[in-house]
Amino acid sequence: MSAPDRIHHIGVAVVDLDESIRLYRNALGAELVHRAASETEGLEAALLRVGDGEIELMSALREDSPVGKFVAKRGPGLHHVAYGVTDIEVALAAAREAGLELIDAEPRIGLHGRRVAFVHPTSMGGVLTEFVET
Ligand code: CO
Repeated sequence: MSAPDRIHHIGVAVVDLDESIRLYRNALGAELVHRAASETEGLEAALLRVGDGEIELMSALREDSPVGKFVAKRGPGLHHVAYGVTDIEVALAAAREAGLELIDAEPRIGLHGRRVAFVHPTSMGGVLTEFVET
């Protein structure tokens, strides 16, 4: 069965990454797990653990990057929901079979070193959806 086994993380677009990491630490006791930047994607992201869940904070490195455009259009806030899957190829095949429009036809390596792929929000009721291979 190819169904995701859990919600892997929630992606949040922020303006100031350092300030947001502080906020999540102070307000929720979140623990910084990983932090990385991607020039290609024009973003910097921090993965924080809250209990047994994770939050991914993302800030734009450039205004014309996808996260930069998102923040310019909608302001900071909820950006995507990521589901953990054991086999991303199987998950993508199932998504295709279900008629979902994939942003990534093939898995790619995400910022945190795992294979990921995104599903277009129009296929998921307005929610940008990510699969993460766990
Ligand atoms: Co993500």
